[in-house]
Order: sequence, then C-alpha cells, then structure tokens
Amino acid sequence: MRRAAPLLIALGMLLLVLGGLGLAGDRPPVAAQEDALRARLEALGITPLSPPPEFPPALVELGQALFFDKLLSGNRDIACATCHHPLLATGDGRSLPLGTGQTGLGPARVHAPGRMFIARNAPDLFNRGDPAWRVMFWDGRVLVRGDGTTVTPAKDALPAGLDGLLAVQALFPVAAIEEMRGLAGDVDVLGQENELALYDEYDFTGIWAALMARVRAVPGYVDLLAAAYPDVRPEDYAIQHVANALAAFQASAFAFTDSPWQRYLHGEDGALSEQARTGATLFFGEAGCWRCHSGPLLTDQRFHNVAAPQLGTGKREEAPHDFGRGRVTHDPAERYAFRTPSLHEVTLTGPWFHNGAYTTLEAAVRHMIAPVESLRAYDGAGLIAELRANLWDDPDTLAAVLSTLDPLAGSPVPLAEADVDLLLAFLETLADPAAADLAHLIPESVPSGLPVED
Ligand code: HEC
Ligand code: HEC
Repeated sequence: MRRAAPLLIALGMLLLVLGGLGLAGDRPPVAAQEDALRARLEALGITPLSPPPEFPPALVELGQALFFDKLLSGNRDIACATCHHPLLATGDGRSLPLGTGQTGLGPARVHAPGRMFIARNAPDLFNRGDPAWRVMFWDGRVLVRGDGTTVTPAKDALPAGLDGLLAVQALFPVAAIEEMRGLAGDVDVLGQENELALYDEYDFTGIWAALMARVRAVPGYVDLLAAAYPDVRPEDYAIQHVANALAAFQASAFAFTDSPWQRYLHGEDGALSEQARTGATLFFGEAGCWRCHSGPLLTDQRFHNVAAPQLGTGKREEAPHDFGRGRVTHDPAERYAFRTPSLHEVTLTGPWFHNGAYTTLEAAVRHMIAPVESLRAYDGAGLIAELRANLWDDPDTLAAVLSTLDPLAGSPVPLAEADVDLLLAFLETLADPAAADLAHLIPESVPSGLPVED
C-alpha cells in the first residue's frame, strides 16, 4: 500500500466530518479529488498551452515547400519530412533514423552499406513553436540562456535576423553530415557532385551560402521568397529567410492545443475519465513525474540521467556511447543526461527515449517508475535485430551509466501494478485527435521537382 494511504483516509474522514457539519453538503468524493487535482495543478503552474501566433500564409507556404524538399540535402535524397513525417506523427517511427544515402520511409527505410545510424531518435515536432521552449535537441546544444543569449554549435557564425529558437534549430540538420549534407565524394541522385559535402564541418557560413545558391537557382523558390518577404531584395535572400519559413511552417502546422487534457485545463471537468484523473493525480503527486515533466509543456527543459539503456552507434570520440549533455558541457557529472521530453501527443510519438530504446509506451512508463531495475532488465526486445547488436549492456557500461544517475529519477514511493494503467490513461489524454491525421500537410509537389513521396 502507498505511503499516502493514511493521508487519503484522513482526508476522507475530514470530509465526512465537514459533511456532518453541513459544509461539504452532499458532494461526492469525485468532486473532492477534482478540487485537489485542480489546486495541485494551480500550485505547479500547469496552465493550458496557448495557440500559435498567426504567421503570414506566404511564409508558411514557403516553409512547407522547404520542409518537404530534398533540395536541402547534399545528395538531394532526404528532406526534413523524411525524419519528421506527417504520417509518422512528425517523427520517423524508428528507434534511430537513417540519414542521407538511403531510401524508403519510416520503419521501411533501407540501411545502405557504409552509412551509419543517426545516434539519436528523431523527436516529434509538436508544439515546438511555443514561446516557452528554451532548449532544443536531446543534449541542448542549441539553447537560449536566461540572459537571452543564444548558444549554438555555430557560435559567431550564427546569422542575425532569426525569428526564434525553432528558426535557429533549422540551421543545423542541413549542416549535419550524416543527416542531410552527405559525405565528401558523394554524388547526388542526379549524378552530380555533392557540393555541400565539400565544406569543412565547422564552416557553417560556407555550407549555408552554398545551400542558398541552390535555393535561389530554383525559380519556384524565388517566387515563394518574394511573396514571403516582400520587403527584402532578391539579392539579399539568405539562410535566415529559409530558417524563419521552416520555423513558421512547423510552429503553425504542428501546434495542437485541443487534447482532452487541454480541455480539462480550460475547465471542462468531464474531459477526463475517472481513471485518467486518478492517473493525473499520481503524475502530479506521489509518482513524482512532475519533478521533471513540469510546466505547461510537461518538461523542465533540463537534463537528467534516468538510466536509459545505451543503444546505437554513439557519438564520435565517445562512441559507441552517447554522453548526452555531458558531451556538450564536457562535465563528466552530466554524462548520460538528456533533456526531459515534453509529453504532449506522447501516445503517438514512439519509439520512446533519446535512442528509441522502448517500443511500447508502457515499457517507457515502467522504466520511469523504476529506472535502475528497468535498465538492468533491458534486453532490447522489440528492436530490429541490427539495432539489438548495438545494445551496450555490459557491466562496465551499466556501472558508468548508473554512476551519474539523477537522484530524482524513479518514483519516490513504490507504485502498485495498477498505477501503470492509471498513468497510461493520463498520458492518453495528452493526445489531440487532430494530431493523428496530418496527411493534408503533404504537398503534391515541391519547387525543385524532386519527388515528395518518401
Ligand atoms: C536524418 C533524419 C533527420 C532529418 C533529415 C532532419 N531531422 Fe530533425 N531531428 C532528427 C534527430 C535525430 C533529432 C534529434 C537530434 C539530437 O537531439 O541530437 C532532430 C531534432 C530536430 C528538432 C529539435 C526538436 C527538439 O525537441 O529538440 C527540430 C525542430 C527538427 N529536428 C527539425 C528539423 C528540420 C526543420 C529539418 C530539415 C531542415 C530536420 N529536422 C531534418 C532527425 C532528422
Ligand atoms: C528525473 C527526472 C524525471 C522524472 C522524475 C520522470 N521523468 Fe520521464 N523522462 C525524463 C527524461 C530525462 C526522459 C528521457 C530519457 C532519455 O531518453 O534518456 C524521460 C522520458 C519519459 C518518457 C518517454 C518520452 C519520449 O518522448 O521519449 C515518458 C513517457 C516519461 N518519461 C514518463 C514519465 C512518467 C510517467 C514519470 C513518473 C512516473 C516520469 N516520466 C518521471 C525525466 C524524468
């Protein structure tokens, strides 16, 4: 039995007494739970998400074309949408993505020899235009500090005139060798030299200028840019105009603020089933989830090592490990820490965790309740065989992961088996049904004329 049980009994007795005094009248206990949850949410500052701002339609239209256009990749073979697809809940439905040099969509994408898995799971893009976002990427290598300065891998090369963090983020997938830019010596799908791959890894200015040369050479983009930026002279079109349009499209197309949970926060008591409400009470109460999944976005945007399994080909010098936040800060104490994910639409966005280690939401929730036990028991069930061969579960790796475990990880009190279902019932209410059907966002064609089907 949970530690809070005596508290609940005491509360019940108090209500009986108050009822006897005629103060609580004939209110059912449900109303008491309702009031307690609402008071708790108020205390934690859990308010509804705000709808996205209105963007000029021409800017969104430009952004949509760019998001689906493989022109933005060195080999003209992969678009943002390949890894963030509308039919795959703005992810790719895979544990780890496959970048340029490969074909197919989502789980059916085919791994080509000589290409590596991308080290991390492609996150969903839901509600990323919300102004409360301060941290991008699982390791926060793009973020806005408290004093308003933006920190990115491009340092001083970051152009001026970017409309926010989502626009800043859009500058990086195009520069990433394994994701979109390609390897030096690659030939694109049309048989031409991949000129974007020739630049040095840190020559962001060179990469972005070369990409803009491509975009400006397509008449359809000159027209879309002119419509989106009537006050900018064509000779001044630069990478920030592309980035701002990509951000506007993502912010408007992927904002969903009508889940049962959002309706509950707007005051609609009936929006949650009793099970979901009890699950929410657990989540924001004794299960301790609220300590990291906090605020309206359900993330503190901080980094925690919650004992996620080490899976995949890893990152550069620390491969096959991925130190997460620790590789950005070079602080050994931050190794294996990753940004707390936002949980809106989480039922749709699997596989879960920074490397897609969990292929069911239930397994992800069970991990969060008892991380150490879950790490030790993890055997990669549900992963494709090729990935299971890249699971690092030797005793040294487990010891290394557990040595920087976040003290907040895991439920502060033991939970009962039935609580898993209650937590899942709550998580289900975070999904807006409209987010499950995004086929209408896929354009029939893009200005470059490259195929959009996958
Ligand atoms: C090869 C697959 C792939 C492609 C192509 C790709 N992404 Fe991503 N995207 C990822 C992965 C993987 C991450 C997480 C990487 C990390 O955190 O280290 C990510 C992260 C992001 C994020 C950050 C989300 C968050 O919550 O931090 C945004 C936004 C995003 N991508 C947008 C884009 C845009 C826009 C494009 C096209 C310009 C694009 N992506 C192309 C795989 C891809
Ligand atoms: C110590 C902070 C912390 C606490 C407490 C916490 N989480 Fe998490 N949660 C995280 C982090 C960090 C991740 C991502 C870990 C990774 O991928 O390495 C995560 C991942 C998740 C995911 C997967 C989401 C996705 O998109 O991949 C779910 C679901 C989740 N948590 C639910 C819960 C629930 C339910 C609780 C309470 C029982 C909880 N969490 C408690 C920090 C926390």
